[in-house]
Amino acid sequence: MKRVTIRVPATTANLGPGFDAFGCALGLYTDVTFEETDFGLEITGCDEAYTGPDNLAYESYCAVLNTLAEEVRGVKIHIDAHIPICRGLGSSAALLVAGAMGANVLHGSRLSTQGLLNITNAMEGHPDNLAPAFLGGLTASMVDGGLPVSVSFPLHPDWVFLALVPDFNLPTVLARSVLPEQIGRADAIYNISHGALVLKALELGDEKLLRTAMQDRLHQSYRKKLIPDYEKIQALIRTTGAAFCLSGAGPTLLCITRNKGLKGMLEQKLPAITEKNWQVLPLHIEFEGAHIIAQE
Ligand code: HSE
Repeated sequence: MKRVTIRVPATTANLGPGFDAFGCALGLYTDVTFEETDFGLEITGCDEAYTGPDNLAYESYCAVLNTLAEEVRGVKIHIDAHIPICRGLGSSAALLVAGAMGANVLHGSRLSTQGLLNITNAMEGHPDNLAPAFLGGLTASMVDGGLPVSVSFPLHPDWVFLALVPDFNLPTVLARSVLPEQIGRADAIYNISHGALVLKALELGDEKLLRTAMQDRLHQSYRKKLIPDYEKIQALIRTTGAAFCLSGAGPTLLCITRNKGLKGMLEQKLPAITEKNWQVLPLHIEFEGAHIIAQE
């Protein structure tokens, strides 16, 4: 039977003002192995709650086979996930990308990356995590006529992304439910202008510009009430001169800096301002998108 293992990087979406549009791949991975069988579904390596047909890797696997007009027979899926679940680091997107790539590779790689992005975007609803998971690096995406268009942007190599990952999770559906349906013109202008300058600051490695540009009026202020001690941690990070944002829909908070000594300082000061346990995880930018790591 044919077997393939796909490695997908973690992703941080939004990067402040780029709500549902910007994303960046980071050096933390989920590996998923797909092995064709004659009949049935078997999923291992994850909590039993995720072993049914609503597993995202299986759903995207089936969606790709349907597009290829291939019969869905049996499959064994083994998940080796290092991306924390429901923390705002793209764990769901990683499963969707792995399933789509796995099915495509096992059936002759007939679909392009754009084709796989189209299918998974229709499932996820926004391409901001999916695009960097497929392409690596920094991406900005739009959805036009229902289809995602994603472009890669240059990134200065000296950035350090410190992910502050808490010991609680936040379902994206809840983090989206608190957002307003309508926003005012001033807030729209604020986010468009800040978003453009975030991309330039990330390219130039300009920490001062990034710190100023990485502010938002579309989602973070509505979501912060769902994350204990958000404001205290934001204030601590901003005293260091680093840029701050929510990673995706949260609850992970992101500190983006060129100061390599900041991890120790944050670990030392966090316990005094929060009762929650926040792991400070230094993550490098991952320039390689999802790819095959084993195939038989
Ligand atoms: N852009 C999305 C959000 C990312 O902020 O809700 C999470 O999927």
